[in-house]
Amino acid sequence: MGIYLDNAATSFPKPKEVSEAVYDFMTNNGTSSGRGAYKKAMESDFIIYECRKLIGELFNFNNPKNVIFTSNVTESINMVLRGMLKENDHVITSSLEHNAVWRTLKTLEKEKNIDISKVKCDKHGITKANDVEKLIKENTKLIIFTAASNVIGTIQPIKEIGEIARKNKIPFVVDGAQLCGAYRVDVQNDNIDILTFTGHKSLLGPMGTGGIVINCDYNIEPTKSGGTGGDSAYEYQVDYYPNKLETGTLNVSGICGLRSAVKFLLKEKVENIYEKEKNLTEYALNILSKVNDVEIYGPKDSEKITPVISFNIKNKRAEEVAHILGDKYNIMVRAGLHCAPCAHEIIGTKEVGTVRVSMGYFNEKQEIDKLAYALNNL
Ligand code: ALA
Repeated sequence: MGIYLDNAATSFPKPKEVSEAVYDFMTNNGTSSGRGAYKKAMESDFIIYECRKLIGELFNFNNPKNVIFTSNVTESINMVLRGMLKENDHVITSSLEHNAVWRTLKTLEKEKNIDISKVKCDKHGITKANDVEKLIKENTKLIIFTAASNVIGTIQPIKEIGEIARKNKIPFVVDGAQLCGAYRVDVQNDNIDILTFTGHKSLLGPMGTGGIVINCDYNIEPTKSGGTGGDSAYEYQVDYYPNKLETGTLNVSGICGLRSAVKFLLKEKVENIYEKEKNLTEYALNILSKVNDVEIYGPKDSEKITPVISFNIKNKRAEEVAHILGDKYNIMVRAGLHCAPCAHEIIGTKEVGTVRVSMGYFNEKQEIDKLAYALNNL
């Protein structure tokens, strides 16, 4: 089986209910949603509706029709940024963004001449919310922040930034890829206008699922048009959620798995998942810091990070370390820039990358012991 420590890329294993639900749907139903009036199609409609509702419950949001399904968080972020930003708009973002945000912003800089400001953080990836306010200009039209870095795990002060955004009437968009499911995310309490999420990381669902929770009246122009299952004679994209942003056949089999995953999370409780992962992180920080010639990046404090630890071993290339771990010890970790070069500028590893260990709900301390043993014997 090996030891899987790449949960920031995608979680594994999934609760068994998830694959069972996908299998059951594909074997016994297999119909499209929002397209038919026969019994099986109505069951598909219910699966989709119930999943919207459960996602709402997870994020303390009670308007299921404003929960939009996408194929992953990258698609969600593209839809939001492209659907909201116009020529010459100014946008504020963190210094730790994944390319899902950063490349999309840089592309819009070329296409629409948008102006991008990065909020500085310290060398451990800690951002001060007040620094966001200092960057606001007259034409600031959006603030987008990752909730947690996928490289060093640092959790950003989302609630405080949201408060600043609300005060200044600027839409606040959060990339929840690394936090949703691993930490309490509450769109009301955390002042989040638009939450983008993926289904296959800490939500423990299948790949190919993700979404957007729209907790505001700011307009998101649709960037895709096509069939929505209703109002078919109307020649333009409909103007109501969720159909406005959901075009084409939905991934009902994936969403069926996601529904089971969210039920699992609500049953286990995110607080308990967080506690277990925090203990694992504390344990891993402690044990990894004793490995020969190791340098760990980011705060060595399990309260400040998700279960993601980046490090390097002196005189060894990150890729080489990951390769030996995989090849010789069957320990799966990721090495390199992790699609987030901005974060490496902060910790000074843009040229060399890092080895990244990312734990999940199903990891155990003995697996961290085996990782430390392997690292000491490289
Ligand atoms: N963003 C994912 C990662 O950090 C793919 O590995």
